[in-house]
Amino acid sequence: MATATRALFMLFGATGDLAKRKLYPSIFNLYKKGYVDNDHFALIGTGRREWSDEKFREVILDSVSANADSEEQAKAFASHFYYMSHDVTNPEHYDALSDYANKLDQQYDIEGNRIFYISMAPNFFGTVAKNLKAHNCLSDNGGFNRLIIEKPFGRDYDTAEELNNALAKSFNENQVYRIDHYLGKEMVQNIIALRFGNPLIEGIWNNKYIDNIQVTLAEKLGVEERAGYYDGSGALRDMVQNHTMQMLTILAMEDPISFKDVDIRREKIRALRSMHVYTEDEARQNFVRGQYGANGDQRDYRHEDNVPNDSITETYVAGKVLFENKRWKNVPFYIRTGKMLTDKFTRIDVVFKKPLVDIFASAKGTESELNNNVLTLFVDPVNKIILRLNGKQAGQGMEMQPLDLTHTQSDEEKAATPEPYERLIHDAILGNATNFASWDEVSRAWEFADVIRHVWDTDKPDFPNYTPGSMGPDAADELLARDGRAWVFNSKK
Ligand SMILES: NC(=O)c1ccc[n+]([C@@H]2O[C@H](COP(=O)([O-])OP(=O)(O)OC[C@H]3O[C@@H](n4cnc5c(N)ncnc54)[C@H](OP(=O)(O)O)[C@@H]3O)[C@@H](O)[C@H]2O)c1
Repeated sequence: MATATRALFMLFGATGDLAKRKLYPSIFNLYKKGYVDNDHFALIGTGRREWSDEKFREVILDSVSANADSEEQAKAFASHFYYMSHDVTNPEHYDALSDYANKLDQQYDIEGNRIFYISMAPNFFGTVAKNLKAHNCLSDNGGFNRLIIEKPFGRDYDTAEELNNALAKSFNENQVYRIDHYLGKEMVQNIIALRFGNPLIEGIWNNKYIDNIQVTLAEKLGVEERAGYYDGSGALRDMVQNHTMQMLTILAMEDPISFKDVDIRREKIRALRSMHVYTEDEARQNFVRGQYGANGDQRDYRHEDNVPNDSITETYVAGKVLFENKRWKNVPFYIRTGKMLTDKFTRIDVVFKKPLVDIFASAKGTESELNNNVLTLFVDPVNKIILRLNGKQAGQGMEMQPLDLTHTQSDEEKAATPEPYERLIHDAILGNATNFASWDEVSRAWEFADVIRHVWDTDKPDFPNYTPGSMGPDAADELLARDGRAWVFNSKK
């Protein structure tokens, strides 16, 4: 039986796209499953628009009805939603918000548990946090106060630190839940289960057996309607500093002493501390950027709507990351992410070393035909695991061939898998910060990314340099070829 938690949500950006597409359906699923206490829960949504409660509830119904068991259920859910027109930059509005929160707290007997969710442009995060505290919107009667904030968390170390200092004036670090929705993905969470639940895997999870690890976050589409935002950000800030770094950290961390959030975070931070932060020259050698060109009807990036035609924003990044510790000495972690690639997928390929001696080839006096064992974790769009081994071809003799052990998520497992936002909001309700990025993690990732950014802002790129529908620029293949390696997934194969 689910544990239901009493909670009052205050959502800033309630009229926005994310709220409608992801947040309301997620909270509805938690309501259906009994994870929010159906009798003791309310949500105040805010935006500048002059909406009534009725209008707000229509939006809620529109967003959740397809997933409701009945119209009554959806309506009962929507009846917990209240709207206040509010400009977050106007301090006076917060007094009314505080009064309203206290009223609903009493009405629903919520016992002071508050979750503040800022689903707005990041330049508002600090202002909202400051005013919430200054205008007594945080409860002080023994309930919890938690702040969930969306990405991006800064655009470099300095702006992230400034934002963090602003938040810290109102919320302690353990009250801040920084969303990185990749951490809510089933297969990303499965990395921890596979590594620390299986001595078979954890026993070989080191530089004695692993040759290299490859993490790919590929998108098939271009910038679409996000061009304005994206051109000021680029792939390094948009995908590498956050999602990719978080995945690398979980792959590289040491065993936590328990599955508690504090213990996992401690190990993630230790892993990030051992990550080598490049000098500028090293960054030039170990990181590659790209921008897509034209292909048939597809315009090049510089001719997309809302993109300046001399833009040097990268739509692709590949790089090599090194962890300088006993476990990972000499094991490169290769990463790549980009837009307009072959397909939309996220995968992790763990490439194992070949046997030191190939007894089959030496018996025949031929070159070894054994392949590297590869453990591939498919994170998106399907959850799948493939372990590629070398096996014997059926028949006479001893010819070898690749043998794949495959686990694909069943339909039942798929149905039981919550969307990342549902899972993460539930974690925040429970006060479990395991799947949120801590300040120490975020700041270290910025230290790493800032060096590369600085080099790229200084050096002139030769753009465009890759074709839509490919897996990126040739330089990304050369990065691995220089080390005598290749991407496991390569569309040119
Ligand atoms: N959309 C996505 O798929 C997605 C994915 C990942 C992360 N995010 C992040 O989620 C956040 C929200 O994104 P979004 O796509 O939902 O943005 P959006 O559609 O532009 O919504 C922005 C919200 O902010 C409100 N707002 C703007 N200025 C305001 C002010 N001065 N006072 C009060 N409210 C104000 C708007 O309400 P009014 O217009 O009514 O004032 C609206 O509700 C961003 O940090 C974004 O980076 C979004």
